[in-house]
Amino acid sequence: MPQEVRAVIARAKGEPVETVTIVVPDPGPGEVVVEVQACGVCHTDLHYREGGISDDFPFLLGHEAAGVVESVGEGVTEVAPGDFVVLNWRAVCGRCRACTRGRPWYCFDTHNAKQRMTLTDGTELTPALGIGAFAEKTLVAAGQCTKVDPAASPAAAGLLGCGVMAGLGAAVNTGGVGRGDSVAVIGCGGVGCAAVAGAKLAGAGRIIAVDIDDDKLALARTLGATHTVNSRTQDPVEAVRELTGGHGADVVIEAVGRPETYQQAFYARDLAGTVVLVGVPTPEMKVELPLLDVFGRGGALKSSWYGDCLPSRDFPVLIDLHLQGRLPLDAFVTGTVGLDGVEEAFARMHRGDVLRTVVEL
Ligand code: APR
Ligand code: ZN
Ligand code: ZN
Repeated sequence: MPQEVRAVIARAKGEPVETVTIVVPDPGPGEVVVEVQACGVCHTDLHYREGGISDDFPFLLGHEAAGVVESVGEGVTEVAPGDFVVLNWRAVCGRCRACTRGRPWYCFDTHNAKQRMTLTDGTELTPALGIGAFAEKTLVAAGQCTKVDPAASPAAAGLLGCGVMAGLGAAVNTGGVGRGDSVAVIGCGGVGCAAVAGAKLAGAGRIIAVDIDDDKLALARTLGATHTVNSRTQDPVEAVRELTGGHGADVVIEAVGRPETYQQAFYARDLAGTVVLVGVPTPEMKVELPLLDVFGRGGALKSSWYGDCLPSRDFPVLIDLHLQGRLPLDAFVTGTVGLDGVEEAFARMHRGDVLRTVVEL
């Protein structure tokens, strides 16, 4: 039987979100209905509301979620009712060029659930990033569910579904941070702080956190930063060089998404070092880099997509590390709200005083 549940939608461009009743159908072949327990509030939800991602209003927002499988459709073997799962926004196909070449995070033939959730008047909803988890229940594809240890709190586990995985994966998967490496992270919001935590997990030596906000730098320290640089008062490139014996860092992670910070990242790395861009730029943004510097410095300029993660490989391990006390996922949850608190969470995001606000259901 289709079920009516409460959920948060963005009905029209720029309008405040609304809590409404939606209809969640029974799971069809390959589909799963998940009882959502927690869902983090991410910048992308705000971008959807502002019309910055697509015009397919109304959107069912929310995509950093964990919950319990309620029912599964025909042919679903990956998960079963009662499983505790973290949702991901890309159920990969396993057959396309990206998948077969071992880079499934770039899969362009995703098998997310078809959009079948509606308002009570039948209006079709577009679930944010194929998930739509600011809802008591949501319909996703089985491949969007990864079973993890239920001992983890839903708020902490859900964060792996987007921002924390993006930052952590930028350090560990994309940047390939290794034992003893010096790492600089520019921008220490939720994503940058996750990169700091990832660098620590990977056994980095010095971890230099750069931000313009001392409170963020203090948070970064609690997550593993060994040194901090406020780039309002210090030139970050010089400071990183000074802290690395005059060389620059082995891996620099840019987690802001601005031309000036990308440029800083480029020059803050050691010769043959790696720069990882995880901050998302806008289409107009450009940087000018002298080709001779690109050529002469060697190394790699990379960008990281969803932390270059493979949910089935990465989520269960990261939850285990969390439960062992080696990955403080709870530290990223700087506040919780109910379903009606999504606008409040956006306001906190604007004020910049949070890593993640999580909607708990
Ligand atoms: N130099 C250093 N830090 C900066 C600068 C700057 N010029 N400008 C902003 N910051 C800091 C902010 O103070 C904040 O701590 O960058 C951080 C950005 O954090 P959030 O706004 O919380 O964003 P977050 O969720 O971490 O995402 C960062 O990654 O995935 C992308 O779309 C996301 O582009 C965004 C970026
Ligand atoms: Zn997100
Ligand atoms: Zn694929």
